[in-house]
Amino acid sequence: MALFGNEEIHRRELRNIFGRCWVFLAHESEIPANGDYVVRKIGEDKFVVVRDEQGAINVLFDACRHRGVQVCRADSGNTSHFRCPYHGWTYNTKGDLVGAPLWKNAFGGMPKEDNGLSKAAKVETKHGLIFATLDPSAPPLEEYLGGMGWYLDLVFGLNEHGVEVLGPPQRFVIDANWKSGADNFSGDDYHLGTLHRSVWEIGAFPVPFRENMMGYHIHAAPGHSLSFSMAPTEDEPGPKFFGYPEHLVETFNTSRISEHQLDVARRSRVFVGNVFPNFSILALPMTEDGAHHAPTGVLTIRTWQPHGPGQVEVWNWFCAYKNMTPDQKDRAYKAGLGTFSMGGSFEMDDTEPWITVGRTGRSVAAELLDFKLNYQMGQPGIGIAKRVEDWVGPGVVYWSRYEEGVQRNLFRFYSDMMRAPAGVWPKSSIEP
Ligand code: FES
Ligand SMILES: [Fe+2]
Repeated sequence: MALFGNEEIHRRELRNIFGRCWVFLAHESEIPANGDYVVRKIGEDKFVVVRDEQGAINVLFDACRHRGVQVCRADSGNTSHFRCPYHGWTYNTKGDLVGAPLWKNAFGGMPKEDNGLSKAAKVETKHGLIFATLDPSAPPLEEYLGGMGWYLDLVFGLNEHGVEVLGPPQRFVIDANWKSGADNFSGDDYHLGTLHRSVWEIGAFPVPFRENMMGYHIHAAPGHSLSFSMAPTEDEPGPKFFGYPEHLVETFNTSRISEHQLDVARRSRVFVGNVFPNFSILALPMTEDGAHHAPTGVLTIRTWQPHGPGQVEVWNWFCAYKNMTPDQKDRAYKAGLGTFSMGGSFEMDDTEPWITVGRTGRSVAAELLDFKLNYQMGQPGIGIAKRVEDWVGPGVVYWSRYEEGVQRNLFRFYSDMMRAPAGVWPKSSIEP
């Protein structure tokens, strides 16, 4: 239980988890032009994600090499240089030190090359999603994602146009631990019928609760889990392709994904998943107001940004396929805002219990009583979930969604990373 509130564990997470894993920072569509930048975090540390004059993406530690002062003071913008406000050391968009006031008098003779901004050890993108790691011993991004890559392709590669973000991310702070978000988005579908009951009453989501529990839980790779809501047979009525409108669905094809992936997407009503540690994805049909607008496909991506063990800042982007019409984008954005955003119907429900999880995590009683959490749903002999052997994609798979192996997969890898010695990548596996 202390995982959700202990200060020492949190410091170790910053080093062993956020200091080593591939962390999602931004989408390429946020920095389309050379010189565009956004400021993001790895763990609790700020990094500038900037497109340089050659169009390459650099992830620069936002700390001046002279005295460690924060160099970039805006959240986003376009620039050719970053100038430290303290003494004026100036860096280009590759992070190279290019000058300082009265250089000759002050530093003449000192090589500039060794004094550029520090950089993330590795930066890679997938479908425009920009990830970075601080650990030179981390495996390449594709290897780190493992089977999860197949499912990211399935969502972000549905057509050849790809995805863009709709405006800057919405940000809000909750008094909860970041892992409550990761745990929930790994596939906690079971809470919908209780916590989100009112969303059916206002017609915000079109699939009845029991039906929505039908589908697959997938331990895609160590740490990375996801869940699909899917009808038991193909002929059943209900949304397909996450509820996207027909004329958009017509552009979904196999130019970037396989027949199998397209077929899984076709049958899917909801996709929810988490890329370890703190990057979550959700695609589903929703509306802000069932009385006036039918549900439509919404794709949101988000990070659970730790602020100490007791707070999480949610960064929430709405995405659209680039070939959606302005009206479709507008509809998806409003439906998203009304449901999964600071003031959205789903989001306001979720945040309250997570606050009390954190409170229990910090409590003396939990420590004294050796209080343990229960993650047993779907284990052998418990509930109705069954292992699926003939699934077309990667991972360990269960039907139906009455299963908490997705979260056990998250915490198994978490535990491996927390125990791994520096420089040694743990040999983790996915287990039933
Ligand atoms: S601290 Fe940045 S120039 Fe001195
Ligand atoms: Fe929820």
